[in-house]
Order: sequence, then C-alpha cells, then structure tokens
Amino acid sequence: MEYILYCLLAYLLGSIPSGLIVGKMGYGVDIREHGSGNLGGTNTFRVLGIKAGLIVTTADILKGTVAAALPFFLGADVITLVVGIFAVIGHMYPVFAGFKGGKAVATSGGVVLGVNPIIFLILLLSFFILLYLTKYVSLSSMISGIVGVIATLIVKDYGLTLVISVFTIFVIYRHRANIKRIMNKTEPKITWM
Ligand code: G3P
Repeated sequence: MEYILYCLLAYLLGSIPSGLIVGKMGYGVDIREHGSGNLGGTNTFRVLGIKAGLIVTTADILKGTVAAALPFFLGADVITLVVGIFAVIGHMYPVFAGFKGGKAVATSGGVVLGVNPIIFLILLLSFFILLYLTKYVSLSSMISGIVGVIATLIVKDYGLTLVISVFTIFVIYRHRANIKRIMNKTEPKITWM
C-alpha cells in the first residue's frame, strides 16, 4: 500500500506541468503551440528565452529529485528508483496537462541526482560535451543516457544501470520525431555554443 501511495505521489509530482505554468502565467503563452510543441525546458528556452527556460528546466529536474529523495528521507520501505520512474511517467504523460508532456530528459536527470549525484554530474558533463560537438539538444540527451548506462556499469551500480536504461528507452521513444528530423537534417541546432 505504501508503495502504491509513493508511486502515485511521484506520478502527481511529475505531472506538474512546469512549462505550461510558467508559459501561461508568466507570458500568456502555451509553449505546446509553439516551437517543437514539446512541454519541456528546451522548447521553453526556444520560445520564451533563457530565464523561463532555466526556471522550467530546474523545476523539471527537481520533480524527479524530490520524488526519488522523499521516500528515502522519510524512511519508507520502497525502492526510491522505482518511485522515481513514476515521476518521469508523470512528466511525459501529465494528468494535469491532458497527458501531453515532455520528453523525459530533465526529470530523469533529477531522479538520478536524487540517488547518485556523481552519476548526475557525469550525465550533465557528457550532455554539454555532446551539445558542444553536435549542437543538437535531442541527440545529446539520448546519447547522454547511454553514457549514463556505461558509467553505472563501470561503478557497478546495477540498480541504477537498470533505471537509467529504462529512462534512456523513454527518452529515445519520446524523441521519435527528433530522430526523423536529424536524419532529414531539419532538426534545429543550437546557435549559442
Ligand atoms: O529535452 C527535450 C530535448 O531533448 C528536445 O526538445 O523541443 O527540441 O524537441 P525539443
């Protein structure tokens, strides 16, 4: 019962549509109707600029971190990583935003931050190195997931290997349109790096 409660709470937390709240309340804009249409940090940067993008990305990361860390701090008898997966499902399919959410990147990173900050730093570093090299946020997000899987295998944190593998599958699945655009050479590249 406790397990179901924490998973439900994590799903609800992940469902908080940061991009929609910041876009609508701060700018009167539904970011799902602009840019890539994605309810995530990257599209917020693209449509509303750096301040809104940073707020939404941070909020989306924190949803995962809080969902994963809360049961740990409350001493709950649950596997925090499993609870964290539900936060990511909430972020992708938010009950508070018509089940049309983001692409799993920031909230997955937040879950990892909540359980293993060193692996989170490796993910972050690999993301920015890949972004510098490719200029594609989407491609960098997907490959960082694979880097995370390899890093956890090296440090023998197999529970995290399993969970980051699940996150990476989510991330790749949610980037289907981006993958097509990358292959057609129509995926937008960042210009600030
Ligand atoms: O975090 C999502 C990012 O990888 C891609 O976002 O808006 O370019 O589809 P977007």
